[in-house]
Amino acid sequence: MEHVVWHESLVNMADRHRANKHRSGVIWFTGLSASGKSTIAHHLEKELFDRRIRSYVLDGDNIRHGINSNLDFSREGRRENLRRIAEVSKLFVDSGIVVLAAFISPYRDDRAFVRDIVGTEHFFEVYVNCDLDVCEKRDPKGLYKKARAGIIKNYTGVDAPYEEPESPDINLDTGSLSVEESVEKVLEFLEEKRFILLL
Ligand code: ADX
Repeated sequence: MEHVVWHESLVNMADRHRANKHRSGVIWFTGLSASGKSTIAHHLEKELFDRRIRSYVLDGDNIRHGINSNLDFSREGRRENLRRIAEVSKLFVDSGIVVLAAFISPYRDDRAFVRDIVGTEHFFEVYVNCDLDVCEKRDPKGLYKKARAGIIKNYTGVDAPYEEPESPDINLDTGSLSVEESVEKVLEFLEEKRFILLL
């Protein structure tokens, strides 16, 4: 950007990792509405907190009340939603925090775009994989019902697409796994990647 000069900080990400005794990155939960993204992210946050790992949940419903309250669910609205989240996540990662991001993020292109912004070495994709009919039966907010009745337009899974991840780092079948089992799978993955071991 013209006439804006980057200011280097005196503490870098590697310094923060050493101080925290863990790495930072983004665990990106994608899946249909009511598939379990936010629930798993919040339970994982608690487990990480108990292990003294600094993490923070960014969640679609909450973020759309604040920083992204001016965005809709059009193709462009969803992309801008994710672009801002990606930029915010990148700052969190630089600050040494593990971001648990729970967004439908229905388009493959947009998820790839997020990965590029965050940096592929810091980004892990978790597919919260649950059949539409199960999500629709759960319908905790009654929004599928409204979408079927035509009261909400462009609802993912009803009249807007969801493009499944082709090679997610983790695939959670939340139709059959419990929340605890899903959280355990993610923790195992992070341990395997030596992400949450002491450096
Ligand atoms: S995303 O598609 O842009 O990634 P995001 O995760 O931020 O979506 O927000 C999804 C949440 O918004 C859903 O859990 C649901 O509660 C609410 N919502 C309201 N309208 C829609 C819609 N048309 N499609 C999907 N979710 C919607």
